[in-house]
Amino acid sequence: MSENLKQFKLKYASLTLHFGPHALNELEEDLSKHERILVVTGRRSAKESGALDEALSILSKHGIVYDIFSDVTPNPWSSQADKMAYRAWEFGAEAIIAIGGGSVIDTAKVAAMIAVSGGKAVDYIYGKRRARGHIPVYAVNITHGTGTEVDRYSVLTVDDVKEKRGFISIYPSVSVDDPRYTITLPRSQTLYTSLDAFYHAYEAATQPWASPFVEMLAFETIKLIRDWLPVAVEKPVNLEARYKLLYASMLAGIAIDMAGTHIVHVLEHVLSGMKPELAHGGGLAITGPRSAYYIHKKSPLASARLLQLLDPSIRPLAEDASKAEAAIRRFQESVGFTETLNQYGFSDVDLIKIAEKGEWPLELSTEDILDILKKSL
Ligand SMILES: [Fe+2]
Repeated sequence: MSENLKQFKLKYASLTLHFGPHALNELEEDLSKHERILVVTGRRSAKESGALDEALSILSKHGIVYDIFSDVTPNPWSSQADKMAYRAWEFGAEAIIAIGGGSVIDTAKVAAMIAVSGGKAVDYIYGKRRARGHIPVYAVNITHGTGTEVDRYSVLTVDDVKEKRGFISIYPSVSVDDPRYTITLPRSQTLYTSLDAFYHAYEAATQPWASPFVEMLAFETIKLIRDWLPVAVEKPVNLEARYKLLYASMLAGIAIDMAGTHIVHVLEHVLSGMKPELAHGGGLAITGPRSAYYIHKKSPLASARLLQLLDPSIRPLAEDASKAEAAIRRFQESVGFTETLNQYGFSDVDLIKIAEKGEWPLELSTEDILDILKKSL
């Protein structure tokens, strides 16, 4: 195996991550302990990436009985976690293998709790019920964005009220990051997922409580995305570029697990809660540059350290906030991201309603939020 594509094992919190080409083979021993497993996927990508066939061949080799649940959509609903949990319970699954990106893995983490601890996803989302236990989740990650394979969060949208919420669920028991599965990501997903990781890093490191360790993870993440996203956009099958982007998104996943996200993610959840066709990474990248203007003012030192990777002249001073905004916008445009809120049908009235919704992170005012939204139209 090439020096640049090293396979390695990492232990973080309660999980074990196997990273690198063919890392799924490392899961064989864990899987072989089970008799019945529920395999969960989205509609197509698990198959197209090759991950589903490789996982199923391990299950067949060990005579493990499996059922497949393939009804997870992007921006998944809480009811999908309920249905998945019911299927796991009805089937008698001892574990779940989640093969997909954030939507699939996030939903599986919640279903794994419900299958043992009862209730419905909304009970956990609103903190009305705590997990007493869960069946193990084996996460086979096939995008380079969410970091959910190494964090304890899930994001689901509550059906009735269309409210998208991030909340604490569980860590997967064992995760697999194999860059080979990401080379089939289309151009749009390549951008969305990488920019998702970018904002995980930028937001986590600019939290008031971010540790130097989180800042280090964020710095490495942004450096890798700066260097390798243009390569992956140009040549999607470049495995080294995919490896580096996957590694970056994993680091950023640990960064948000430790420090969390703030304004860009909070705003995005409101936006894609209203328009589920808006991809998570797309929503972040639309409002991210103007948000950075405010973030830089609040955390100039941490922001400057990271954004100097894009523009070395940015100083850790509030007066350089416009430069911070411009640097991110320029980078996004250079890799071909030019989407706006306008093209998703948001109107001026929508923006005012959103801005007036309530309290915002970083003590941003209604006027600040309205400014971010208007500059993202
Ligand atoms: Fe995210």
